[in-house]
Amino acid sequence: MKLLVVGGGGREHAIIKKLKENKEVTEIFACPGNGGIAADATCVPIGAKDIDGIVTFAKEHAIDFCVVAPDDPLVLGCVDALEAEGIPCFGPDKAAARIEGSKVFSKNLMQKYGIPTADYAVFDDPKAALAYITEQNTFPTVIKADGLALGKGVVLAQDLAEAKDAIHSIMEDKKFGDSGNQIVIEEFLEGPEVSVLSFTDGKTLVPMISSMDHKRALDGDKGLNTGGMGTVAPNPYYTKAIADECMEKIFLPTLDAMQKEGCPFKGCLYFGLMLTKNGPKVIEYNCRFGDPETQVVLPLLKTDLLTVMRAVHDETLDQLEVEWKDGAAACVIVASGGYPASYKKGIPMDLGKAESLQDTIVYHAGTALEYGKLVTAGGRVLGVTATGDDLQDALNKAYEAVQEIHFDDMFYRKDIGQRALKALN
Ligand code: AMP
Ligand code: GLY
Repeated sequence: MKLLVVGGGGREHAIIKKLKENKEVTEIFACPGNGGIAADATCVPIGAKDIDGIVTFAKEHAIDFCVVAPDDPLVLGCVDALEAEGIPCFGPDKAAARIEGSKVFSKNLMQKYGIPTADYAVFDDPKAALAYITEQNTFPTVIKADGLALGKGVVLAQDLAEAKDAIHSIMEDKKFGDSGNQIVIEEFLEGPEVSVLSFTDGKTLVPMISSMDHKRALDGDKGLNTGGMGTVAPNPYYTKAIADECMEKIFLPTLDAMQKEGCPFKGCLYFGLMLTKNGPKVIEYNCRFGDPETQVVLPLLKTDLLTVMRAVHDETLDQLEVEWKDGAAACVIVASGGYPASYKKGIPMDLGKAESLQDTIVYHAGTALEYGKLVTAGGRVLGVTATGDDLQDALNKAYEAVQEIHFDDMFYRKDIGQRALKALN
């Protein structure tokens, strides 16, 4: 089987490494891949948003199955375009990808079907938005751009001045382009956050192992919001009782809602949850695998990934038992100095023995090959993952591997998993 994976970050590296475990797989292409993915797949210089380029390539190379991983191509309809040419895919179509592509769509869906989430209001006029916040006068308040915004479209405004700034930059300065034509203003929720990725074929939903992201750049949850600086799985706050409650009140109702709206969701549906004192609530849906959640979830998957993905495509997930390994996984992101603001690229890297340590996988996110040598090419550079008997064991191994890695200005959080360890004890 010839596979194509669309995307080029750490998440895609984790997907590719897992897909390679299937003996039927003869070749994997990545559009565009990266410097480390090049060791596991054939990288093709076609961007993940170049839908026409991807479809043409897939046809020319007689691709048997395609995995579309990032949000942008999914929201742009990459799966629709590939399937129209007879190429089976893992990933939601354009209509279903709205669950991430439009916060207004997802909030209205939750309201209509009684799925627990933060109270909210939608605005397309900045003056009306500001008047609403002024009248409410409760802070912090949460302001979200409707559309995709590179994960940066959420502002937790601490006071009226910050709220005013956010509304101005999203709706008037159009910081995120048309994504800011509408905004959602919502209630600020508190509690531990849990990421639950799930496989779903539109009729059956199988949750994956839960995980915990660390979104801020610096230790102690300080600094700017990032795409994620590290993850652990499973998430100790996510008990069996909470999982059952989420299945009943959130996961199945969401599946049902998407069916009733005429856009059944097939692929990986990501539930970003907050465990509030009034029960679990949805913070956000993503229409794809999380990054860096995937880097801790897939190493714990026992069942063959391609088999699961094909069952999702064929809508036969009810006939498959998806199994998980015991133990835990931890991923520490090694980033470029300055991330998530500006940073340098093209810095030579030395990975030492990191890639050959036991129970450890170094996923490449922002790396490139220059004349055969590995250099940095992004903000989040590597995701150093280890599995272990328990979380402490996994963390020890991951941090041991990080010690092997050197490049100028590199940084990483030293407290990944500490909150989870406290919750365990
Ligand atoms: P998102 O881009 O939707 O994942 O939001 C980014 C982060 O903002 C989330 O992971 C939460 O930490 C935070 N956040 C989003 N919505 C809320 C909310 N209603 N209350 C509190 N925090 C939130
Ligand atoms: N790590 C959060 C996300 O993938 O959206």
